[in-house]
Amino acid sequence: MTIETVALDDQNSQLVLIDQTQLPGRVEILRLSTQEEICEAIYLLKVRGAPAIGVAAAFGVYLGAKAIDTEDYATFCRLFDEKRAYLESARPTAVNLAWALGRMQQVVLDHSDLSVAEIKALLLKECNAIKAEDIEMCRHIGEHGLSVLKDGDGILTHCNAGQLATSKYGTALAPIHLGRERGMHFRVYTDETRPLLQGARLSAFELMADGVDTTVICDNMASQVMKNGWINAVFVGCDRVAANGDVCNKIGTSGVAILAKHYGIPFYVLGPTSTIDLATPTGDDIPIEQRPAEEVTDMWYEKPVAPQGVKVYNPAFDVTEHDLITGIITEHGIARPPYTESLRVLFEKKEDTTR
Ligand code: MRU
Repeated sequence: MTIETVALDDQNSQLVLIDQTQLPGRVEILRLSTQEEICEAIYLLKVRGAPAIGVAAAFGVYLGAKAIDTEDYATFCRLFDEKRAYLESARPTAVNLAWALGRMQQVVLDHSDLSVAEIKALLLKECNAIKAEDIEMCRHIGEHGLSVLKDGDGILTHCNAGQLATSKYGTALAPIHLGRERGMHFRVYTDETRPLLQGARLSAFELMADGVDTTVICDNMASQVMKNGWINAVFVGCDRVAANGDVCNKIGTSGVAILAKHYGIPFYVLGPTSTIDLATPTGDDIPIEQRPAEEVTDMWYEKPVAPQGVKVYNPAFDVTEHDLITGIITEHGIARPPYTESLRVLFEKKEDTTR
């Protein structure tokens, strides 16, 4: 896949996205200028996946800041914070959104001694750094992920935690893309991922574009492919990891983890440390986004599949308890149980390398 998931066209003050709601049927590139367009693109999942929405929001708030017409630091700070809060309200679960916007805000707060023009230049540098670091992190996650795989393995994945969910490589799919670069072959089974079909539409699209042996299964077929002996490991992404190792990811992930435990298949979560939120003690403390009923009853179908007016429960994410998880694979290595301890050690390592 040569198209970038998220890019900044600074010259034209536009956020450039591949519209993921149109894939795989149409590759449509969006050019967004206003804060409303950017916020809506995140909410409607035109850009999606925890790291990608962080990068999109960082570019978005930079464009918002660029348009603020004042020389007064206090006024700039106030207007910037309004834009930050607005973009942060787009989706509540993936911590990367708040993390990236928080990083951008810190630039403003740390430089009260500079002119507004100088702060804007620093904000541009910061959002570009967030994207560049995302690519680097994903490459490292890919390396660590490859260390638990062997050529020919069958991998089951859920939702899309690939290139389309990040700036490059992805998280859960990074080892597969990196392995391909090195001539390795994997068989990937991708859950279709109801209701928005990120697995059938997006993972299948990007894996096939990379020449990977890809099979789409309905979500309720995961048990059967595991029982058939076709799966050596489950690789999924994450939207937020709590301090105790509980993992919040796309709805349906916890069911896959329970199945993997039943069949004795290792279950790995792959994500950057920016998705680990040590301030959230357990999975119970993670806000779960509820989405419109139409996504379940109407979207993707010519006619509604359920009676009009039926009650619908549509949480976008669920929490997989830490004791179902074999390892959490990050850019700084693999955390293994007990996670309260191993995640803390991982963060110490991160601080050492960034110092
Ligand atoms: O609702 P989505 O499509 O944004 O959900 C995405 C996921 O659940 C991904 O697995 C997660 O964000 C990790 S992306 C590297």
